[in-house]
Amino acid sequence: MGVFARAWRLPAHRPQLSKHRPGVYKVGMKALITGSSGQIGTNLSIALMARGDTVDGIDIRPNAWTREIPTRLLDLTKIKPDEVSSAKDIDVVVHLAAHAKVFELVEHPDRALANVIDCFTALDFARRRNIPFIFGSSREVYGDIHHHVTEEKSADFVVAESPYSASKIAGEAMIYSYGSCYGLPYLVFRFSNVYGRYDNDLERMERVIPLFVRKIARDEPIVVFGKEKVLDFTYVDDCVQGIVKGIDALVGGRVQNETINLAYGSGSSLVDMVNIVSLALGKTPKVSYEPARPGEVTRYVADIAKARQLLGYDPQTPLSGGLPKAINWYRQTGMI
Ligand SMILES: NC(=O)c1ccc[n+]([C@@H]2O[C@H](COP(=O)([O-])OP(=O)(O)OC[C@H]3O[C@@H](n4cnc5c(N)ncnc54)[C@H](O)[C@@H]3O)[C@@H](O)[C@H]2O)c1
Repeated sequence: MGVFARAWRLPAHRPQLSKHRPGVYKVGMKALITGSSGQIGTNLSIALMARGDTVDGIDIRPNAWTREIPTRLLDLTKIKPDEVSSAKDIDVVVHLAAHAKVFELVEHPDRALANVIDCFTALDFARRRNIPFIFGSSREVYGDIHHHVTEEKSADFVVAESPYSASKIAGEAMIYSYGSCYGLPYLVFRFSNVYGRYDNDLERMERVIPLFVRKIARDEPIVVFGKEKVLDFTYVDDCVQGIVKGIDALVGGRVQNETINLAYGSGSSLVDMVNIVSLALGKTPKVSYEPARPGEVTRYVADIAKARQLLGYDPQTPLSGGLPKAINWYRQTGMI
């Protein structure tokens, strides 16, 4: 505990805890979510509002899929921490805003610096207001270390593989320092290849699954960068389940100051992914292969034992089940 730990106090407004099950969260809290117009932010906001929580969304751009999420258009790199929100009753800050595409940040490293500034602005707002903080970090902090499965303590900043991974390591380091100096309660989640619902805005951000689905559906050729890549693909509902459990545990005071992998917990190759997509679409893909691009991780399978143990996280959707769900949603939206 750091020198300021005793100055920590609970926010005046706290969500109610159940009288019957002490420490168990009862709905009705307010979450400030940065990046609420993004894929994970949209899914998380909708899930929280559906159970009766209030969401205060912040993003640099409007939501492309729904108007239901209350969103203030703010650029976190351009405002001071005090300007993030004037609301009095925020129970948790979930910081998801970022430039989230690895290769894009290899080409534009200034966007990695923007990620660090975004994180500082949201984090320092949380510190000034004594609000528990959740950070959307990434498996990229591990670098390309080729472990059979990767547990949380394998992270080491000297393996920073790309400007994006450096920006997530910097964000994590700042959060750990705030936990230690100011007693700020936090959770850091390391996500991995999240796919499904609200990820089809390909003009803004090319993600491999919706991109391949669209191209294969149109009989267009696809290029797989890194035939040997094995990744841990996470269906978005599993990711959201983990974050919601984390919010409840953090706000309820049961779990804090932990760094947790959130993924499905098994590896699939890009070739597996292309085969499942092609089967679901009834197509024969036109595939060519190129080496993995600079900065890309080529093997990652998360050890999710910590998430299971601390949060009761229980992912439900293997890639073979998630891809058909994602494809159904792409059909409903007219993408294919
Ligand atoms: N989706 C994944 O597979 C994955 C994997 C690992 C980590 N993450 C991390 O999780 C978080 C959410 O990911 P996502 O897939 O929803 O990304 P996303 O790009 O869909 O959403 C990020 C949102 O942040 C917003 N944003 C960017 N800069 C901003 C700024 N300066 N001010 C305000 N808003 C800003 C963007 O407009 C966007 O809507 C990101 O931090 C990402 O790095 C995602």
